[in-house]
Amino acid sequence: VIVEGLLTTINADGSVNLAPMGPKWDPAGEQLLLRPYQTSTSFANLVRSRRGIFHITDDVELLARAAIARIAPPPPMTPLGPDLGWVLDDCCRWHAFRVDAIDDRQPRAEISVTIVDSGRRRDFLGFNRARHAVLEAAILATRVHLLPADEILAEFDRLLVPVQKTGDPPEARALEMLRQHVLAAIGRPLGAASH
Ligand SMILES: Cc1cc2nc3c(=O)[nH]c(=O)nc-3n(C[C@H](O)[C@H](O)[C@H](O)COP(=O)(O)O)c2cc1C
Repeated sequence: VIVEGLLTTINADGSVNLAPMGPKWDPAGEQLLLRPYQTSTSFANLVRSRRGIFHITDDVELLARAAIARIAPPPPMTPLGPDLGWVLDDCCRWHAFRVDAIDDRQPRAEISVTIVDSGRRRDFLGFNRARHAVLEAAILATRVHLLPADEILAEFDRLLVPVQKTGDPPEARALEMLRQHVLAAIGRPLGAASH
């Protein structure tokens, strides 16, 4: 099963990189299969340090911010130990892992990892349509260079419906932030209606 979450990795200068990532999860075991594009900072960091921490979270606003690298101020994090990586203070679960094998034959690499330490902070509250819509919007925002602008904006219009119906302020803020990011990336006036 693919689980969308947040990955922290260690940059070359020792600082932390935060990125949404959707690894394949082996619920029976201690293994994850991460699939980062080789162009991503996460990939470079995993190759270099061979460590990372994957977080299960329901904080889609943070996930949206990380997707477009708008994470100032950074969320509170705690170091797990020297060179072991950083745990998001506010998450549902975290899983620290070490890299076992890297397959870089495709642009989207496959990195098998083994979980070496885990922690639980709080329950995952449950499904709602608005949070799923923000996840979809965050994916779209990372693909502005790949998809036709009108298609992306039409999707944003569609995703606004579940966010308005079932979302709270964090989901509404996240969707609007992502929409502004997309408008800027495709060179449309900020604040413009998307249709
Ligand atoms: C829900 C979600 C899941 C994602 N899963 C992946 C993934 O599995 N692999 C990947 O390369 N990018 C994935 N992305 C896109 C990356 O998060 C995005 O390209 C990000 O800018 C990479 O950050 P980095 O360069 O700091 O690693 C995902 C984005 C979202 C919103």
